[in-house]
Amino acid sequence: MEPDVSQTMLDNPLREGLSLERLPSPCAMVIFGASGDLTRRKLMPALYDLALEGLLPPGFSVIGYARSPKTNEEFRAEVRESIQQFARRTPIDEGLLSNFEQGVSYVSGDFSSPDDYARLNEELDRLDRERNTSGNRVYYLATPPSAYANIAHHLADHGMVHPLDDERWTRLIVEKPFGHDLQSARELNETLLKYFAEEQIYRIDHYLGKETVQNMLAFRFANGIFEPIWNRTFIDHVQITVAESIGIENRGGYYDQAGALRDMVQNHMLQLLSLVSMEPPPDFDAESVHDEKVKALRSIRPYQPEDVEACTVRGQYREGWVMGQPYPGYRDEARVDEASVTETYVALKLFIDNWRWAGVPFYLRTGKHLPRRVSEIAIQFHKAPHPPFESNVTQSLEPNVLAIRIQPDEGITLKTTAKVPGPSMRLRSVNMGFLYGTSFLVESPDAYERLLLDCMLGDSTLFPRRDGIEASWEPITQILEGWDASGKTELPGYPAGTWGPDEADEFMERDGRQWRQP
Ligand code: BG6
Repeated sequence: MEPDVSQTMLDNPLREGLSLERLPSPCAMVIFGASGDLTRRKLMPALYDLALEGLLPPGFSVIGYARSPKTNEEFRAEVRESIQQFARRTPIDEGLLSNFEQGVSYVSGDFSSPDDYARLNEELDRLDRERNTSGNRVYYLATPPSAYANIAHHLADHGMVHPLDDERWTRLIVEKPFGHDLQSARELNETLLKYFAEEQIYRIDHYLGKETVQNMLAFRFANGIFEPIWNRTFIDHVQITVAESIGIENRGGYYDQAGALRDMVQNHMLQLLSLVSMEPPPDFDAESVHDEKVKALRSIRPYQPEDVEACTVRGQYREGWVMGQPYPGYRDEARVDEASVTETYVALKLFIDNWRWAGVPFYLRTGKHLPRRVSEIAIQFHKAPHPPFESNVTQSLEPNVLAIRIQPDEGITLKTTAKVPGPSMRLRSVNMGFLYGTSFLVESPDAYERLLLDCMLGDSTLFPRRDGIEASWEPITQILEGWDASGKTELPGYPAGTWGPDEADEFMERDGRQWRQP
């Protein structure tokens, strides 16, 4: 029996009540690319944490599939080590971990060798027999994207993909990057759709698994007071910041081909944008949510080639210090071209051309090696139209800002103006706030826990749909083409540990605005 997928997101923003009702049916998961960092840092620890909460189905099994020869025991030892190092809940529950390990096995294979898929299939059959995994499968593509098409093809070729009407379900999780531009994203969608139905494809964007991101929907649509002012009449502009203190961390080969726009904006930041700007869906069915998000993304005003430079700022970190540590400049990182013009910082302005948002600029910025790790969405409202105070008092009046802090110190604050106690009318900004840490005494699950569980449950609400991916690549591809056409051989630099290039501040000043200092 297929579990109930009509579960709404609002039912359980805090995972309260995630009990039997949310238990997936028995299944096995195959992780392709199991020797990689993602498996070690995120997937195995998330599966263990799910096991700890009793959220994995009975007999749950996971097969690591990768090229390097390895025994089951060797792979289990690696898994154990990764869980000890990265699981959210410590100390490790030894009994539970040994139990979990019994469901872990390894198949060494090539992504294009039919014989190896046959061996994988035999292992899956064994799990069905011995651990009652019932023929249900999750295939997780944690490989370089160049292997995706091959894997999908071979799985289908070996009868390992069951059609939607089969009682055994098959689901495919696809990691980012999903394409390199609009054309390649479309091609990848078309390739995957030859072998899997759209309902079987789960394109992962881990930002959607973050509690604070899901809370956007609760905040906007479960409260009566915000939606009436969530529009151009009240909002001056919106800033979305995803600042990282880390650099590219041994990922030079990937990053130099990607850059901040593809790495962070096309996926995570445009997903945040769509949640802030979408219309209320009629219900929280996955399709209804996707429909509204896609409409918002499709309303982004196209960039004309000649406008791209004026609407964006690129930067590259130079040598500097972040939180007391010295770091080399980007071009000196391993596997980075020494004449690279890949951006490690990007800021951009966009407009959403619909009735709600006409004329309201959205400013997005992200960068590596900024002073600290902080992500937030800030909604800045118009200033009070006529404050009845002396002019010397009103000069310092600041606009109201609603800041939704995604990480760290998750919470929401509303900046308002208040009278300073005393005999004269002096005004100052103060914050009204809600912090997850103090309001809820439970720790938020890791994004991968939520997303892996949702996939096993067949709930795709938190996974971008095909048209959503393509809609988000459209403006990004226009920007990339504009940048290519500009033929720049140097990008503005910023010392590691600063808030990006000076050009980013000038960019805001030209609009009479400023970046917030989160
Ligand atoms: C990944 C990017 O998708 O997201 C990384 O490839 C980035 O470059 C990471 O560091 C940020 O994720 P988080 O959850 O740490 O904000």
